[in-house]
Amino acid sequence: MNDFIPKRLEGKVAIVTGGASGFGESTVRLFAKHGAKVLIADVQDDLGQSLCNELATTFNDDVIYVHCDVTQDSDVKNAVDTAVSTFGKLDIMFNNAGIPGNLDFTILDSDNDNFKRVFDVNVFGSFLGAKHAARVMIPARQGVILFTSSVASVVSGESPHSYTMSKHAVVGLMKNLCVELGQYGIRVNCISPGSVSTPLVTNAMGLGKAEVDDIVCASTVLKGVVPAAEDVAEAAVFLGGDGARYVTGVNLVVDGGYSTTNQSYSRVIKQTFETLAKKL
Ligand SMILES: NC(=O)c1ccc[n+]([C@@H]2O[C@H](COP(=O)([O-])OP(=O)(O)OC[C@H]3O[C@@H](n4cnc5c(N)ncnc54)[C@H](O)[C@@H]3O)[C@@H](O)[C@H]2O)c1
Repeated sequence: MNDFIPKRLEGKVAIVTGGASGFGESTVRLFAKHGAKVLIADVQDDLGQSLCNELATTFNDDVIYVHCDVTQDSDVKNAVDTAVSTFGKLDIMFNNAGIPGNLDFTILDSDNDNFKRVFDVNVFGSFLGAKHAARVMIPARQGVILFTSSVASVVSGESPHSYTMSKHAVVGLMKNLCVELGQYGIRVNCISPGSVSTPLVTNAMGLGKAEVDDIVCASTVLKGVVPAAEDVAEAAVFLGGDGARYVTGVNLVVDGGYSTTNQSYSRVIKQTFETLAKKL
């Protein structure tokens, strides 16, 4: 993207949780390019601070880092209060921080403590982010609350139960909040990405970025695009900006069409005919 992009978030103030890495990092970069002042909220202090220092060369003091564990009410409160005291207001709260948890795929193998940890970060963390954002957005009678859910909120059986449940819960929170906060002019939406080779996925799978990209591209519907964190950032710019002023209550799936189809039936038929053909 060149430097002459129209600034679609000029004058806005945003918080991005999980802003030190992956989707969050890309969103911080793109929000800043679009003229927003951004508070990075994360637990990876070195990464978050170095992103902040890097962006300071272009955006001066418009990007700041605050340590924030989204499972801690006082940390989330501090992040929101710091955004308001530093930049004067809060327009966009992007509740993006999340963890995959253990890759326990069967219910009998599912570890109870892991289940609670996944819910603590993905669900309770999103709830706290929304709660503290609403605290300052309701009096202002404006604002946008975004969440990162997942394709796991619309496709079943491909992620562990804890993760899938947590991402459904985030969509439920988004919809309930959309109804409650609409009267104050606050929009609430989700972004649900398909699999993208961020550190979350490469670490969970124990594979390199190129290997994950190959797997994703082989399984997706839309060909010719290697999905990237920037695709989620672009969705966040759209939903966070005034171009989406009448869009609320939406779970925007960014997955190259993956969730529109289930090709396992046709794949089995194809394999069956190929096997039969070999026998002839
Ligand atoms: N990468 C994918 O394929 C994918 C697909 C669908 C949804 N998601 C979701 O996207 C979001 C971002 O994930 P990502 O892929 O960019 O991963 P990532 O690991 O690159 O980034 C996640 C960030 O969240 C931060 N974080 C974790 N726990 C936190 C906590 N308690 N408090 C504050 N920050 C915390 C991490 O430090 C990290 O910087 C997550 O909610 C994830 O579930 C990812």
